[in-house]
Amino acid sequence: MTDRLQVIWNKRLVGTLDRHKKGRVVFQYSQDWIRNESAPVSLSLPCRKEKFAPAISTAFFENLLPESNTRTVLAFRHRFDKKDTYSFLENFGEDCAGALSIIPEDQDPDFTPGQYENITQALIETLDKMQVDPEKYKLYPEMKQAKLSLAGAQDKLPVYIKGTEVYLPKNSGSATTHIIKPINAGFNDIPRNEAFCMELAQRSGFSIPNSKIMKIGGHELFVVDRYDRQKLNKEIVRIHQEDFCQAMGYPAERKYQETGGPGFAQCRELIDEYLSNEGATNRLLFISMLVFNYIIGNHDAHGKNFSILHNNGFELAPFYDLVSTQVYPLDNKFAMAIGRTFRLDRIRNHSFEVFAKDMNVRHNLLISLVDKMCRAMEKELNCLIMEHEKNYGKAKIYEDLNKVIQSNITQLQSFFG
Ligand SMILES: Nc1ncnc2c1ncn2[C@@H]1O[C@H](COP(=O)(O)OP(=O)(O)O)[C@@H](O)[C@H]1O
Ligand SMILES: [Mg+2]
Repeated sequence: MTDRLQVIWNKRLVGTLDRHKKGRVVFQYSQDWIRNESAPVSLSLPCRKEKFAPAISTAFFENLLPESNTRTVLAFRHRFDKKDTYSFLENFGEDCAGALSIIPEDQDPDFTPGQYENITQALIETLDKMQVDPEKYKLYPEMKQAKLSLAGAQDKLPVYIKGTEVYLPKNSGSATTHIIKPINAGFNDIPRNEAFCMELAQRSGFSIPNSKIMKIGGHELFVVDRYDRQKLNKEIVRIHQEDFCQAMGYPAERKYQETGGPGFAQCRELIDEYLSNEGATNRLLFISMLVFNYIIGNHDAHGKNFSILHNNGFELAPFYDLVSTQVYPLDNKFAMAIGRTFRLDRIRNHSFEVFAKDMNVRHNLLISLVDKMCRAMEKELNCLIMEHEKNYGKAKIYEDLNKVIQSNITQLQSFFG
């Protein structure tokens, strides 16, 4: 075992990761990559021949890893420390968000495409166990052969799906194509909540990866297509992406503005700096996303829930992780302050005036964006609830979503009317 990992992008070596103190990592681009490609893995790690300091290297790569409970369980099972970023990448880095595939230096990467193992039965058995003891069992750690990684607090698994069968990749050349998220005991019907909000966004005019509820062995799962994967001549190609925290060099523990992470003004600066080739289009799109999140009551839209695609230039990635957290009895603080407050009950007219300034748009323009979004969502809401109830059965979550969305629309219309 060496203390060096290879970072691969599209079958080419981008650079290496060396183990530093306390499980941190040091990243260095390969000379060959700088000479021939010169595409950065992150806006926070521009191409250069010198090594990057452990703090900035670790911030980017640690942001690829699972968080909270899943992280603790994985570390415990593999007998390494929860903060040991190097060991996580060594064990789970083969398929990540974006294009990078990370493997130990002493292993030859196997790029043969189409090498997958069918896990349908094992998945059903795990979901059965999770239903009985949701605290003990998490999807990720139970799938012992999974050498893959995705950020986030919700339990999930990146997979390859064909028909009704679910697979895990066996090598670096075989990428996952979907993300599945199971039910969560503390959050009633969360897969339906997410599927509903994603579809509402799609119908309200956003570009959104397709998602649905999949039933497997009597269990409901939320399934979404990965927008960072593309099929090219029978091969699944990885498209690079990074989230806003990675792009700005924030470590994962600072994803919330209240704990020192990015707020709307910083996100706007990032968009203006790297995503303004088409003038203000992306800034306006981002504002519409925030208005949509406000209306569905998605208070968890932190810096890791927005991403940039690196695909012959930079693009704002499609909208993802759309869940109404307001339907649950949480303390429900906003991940980013609106005006000067993190709390829904402290929002006033004035908050949106400050917000417009943060986003560098005229208040009148914000009024017209809010008005457009409220109308689009109102138009689709009832019909979509009926369709979901018809497809998946009536459930309290739809009543709760309806109540929250209607009430937020009414409140916004009273501010902006
Ligand atoms: N449809 C998707 N395609 C590609 N990457 C995605 C997609 N959805 C989420 N991701 C990536 O996976 C990470 C975790 O997913 P997310 O839905 O945010 O989970 P969580 O609810 O746990 O925060 C995201 O931060 C993003 O990098
Ligand atoms: Mg997320």
